[in-house]
Amino acid sequence: LALDYQDGRLSLDGLSLEALAADFGTPLYVYSQAAMIDAAQQVDTALAGPTPHLVCYALKANPSLAVIQTFARLGLGADVTSGGELFRALRAGVPAAKVVFSGVGKTPAELRAALDSGIRALHVETEGELAALNAIAGELGRPAPIALRINPDVDPHTHPKIATGMSENKFGLPWGEVLRIVEDIRKMPGLRLVGLSMHIGSQITRLDGFQEAARLVASLAADLLSAGVALEYLDFGGGIGVRYADETPPSPAEWAGALRAVLGDLPLGLLAEPGRSLVAGSGVLITRVTGIKRTPAKTFVILDAAMNDLIRPMLYDAYHSIDPVLQRPGAPVEPVDIVGPVCETTDTFARGRDLPLPEPGDLLAIRQVGAYGMSMASNYNSRPRAAEVMITADGAALPIRDRETYDDLVRGERLLP
Ligand code: LLP
Repeated sequence: LALDYQDGRLSLDGLSLEALAADFGTPLYVYSQAAMIDAAQQVDTALAGPTPHLVCYALKANPSLAVIQTFARLGLGADVTSGGELFRALRAGVPAAKVVFSGVGKTPAELRAALDSGIRALHVETEGELAALNAIAGELGRPAPIALRINPDVDPHTHPKIATGMSENKFGLPWGEVLRIVEDIRKMPGLRLVGLSMHIGSQITRLDGFQEAARLVASLAADLLSAGVALEYLDFGGGIGVRYADETPPSPAEWAGALRAVLGDLPLGLLAEPGRSLVAGSGVLITRVTGIKRTPAKTFVILDAAMNDLIRPMLYDAYHSIDPVLQRPGAPVEPVDIVGPVCETTDTFARGRDLPLPEPGDLLAIRQVGAYGMSMASNYNSRPRAAEVMITADGAALPIRDRETYDDLVRGERLLP
């Protein structure tokens, strides 16, 4: 990622962040399309092998249409987890045949929309969904392609809030029950079992959990193939970590290469559903310092960005590095609390962080926010959501989402008569 200081000013892919803030206002999400393309190509290349493969970008990491389009144009598919994400994927031009739909609680309307649009497969996580899909497929008169999401009961060694493949998590079908469930599926003519999938968690920085889970899924697949089930693919999920502070995750290419190795010579296609690793490093959140507040206890740097714009630090104690956009040589470096204006103490981006003391009006860049930044933004405290700009691969600053207005805030609401 080309994020560096040029003449004391932070720039992304050669464009000054100060100039972008002046043009588009703050808080502002800025993404490098080149970084996204690079990350996607690394995974895509490493997954290549004797059988077909497909990278299904997990939209939840960053579902902006221009981001999805960026990946769709490289030939990637999409992993969606709601009717809304399915709508976005199709709107951005992802072919339905490259879309998979995961999720533990799909509604009947979502199941129907997915089948209607002809997606690659629904990744089923509850037995109830099998019966529901079988019934809808019967009505539509064509079988529903499904994959079973396996819960392999493997510890991914990540933050407990984003671990998904352990027996106590709500996700996936317990691996020990899969063979029995497959027997039940054989009795449902509306279902066509085409794959097995897994996803054991997010921000995982070690390969061993992936390998252990993938081996289990691969061995289940081998059993099913020998039992005559016409499986077409294995989907090893997403979850590869990125470096926010001092983590040392495997590279996306190493991760993908390890998954291909686990597939070995099984005659199956290979899918993966990375989200974070394709977009996290591509994005910065530009925010303006609105004030400095010194109390006997602390110094607070108050920003115009808040927990409604980026909730990762508050929800997962996540670390994001925060750098001045304009270097101030000689500014004293002090431990400060970096906070937003929202009316609760949770609204803190960093505590006791050493920062060259900014002045009101200065800009700061919160880094590595391309994933689960804007996608988790809300209107809490009736704050309009931020604008987004993409620096395209040819170096243009392209607005991809307008800043919300106050009218947007009340859209759909009705005053009492
Ligand atoms: N596939 C499925 C079924 C998933 O549930 C997820 C993420 C992914 C793929 C993509 O995982 P990734 O490659 O992005 O790790 N909001 C949290 C992360 C939640 C991840 C949820 N599932 C955060 O900000 O850390």
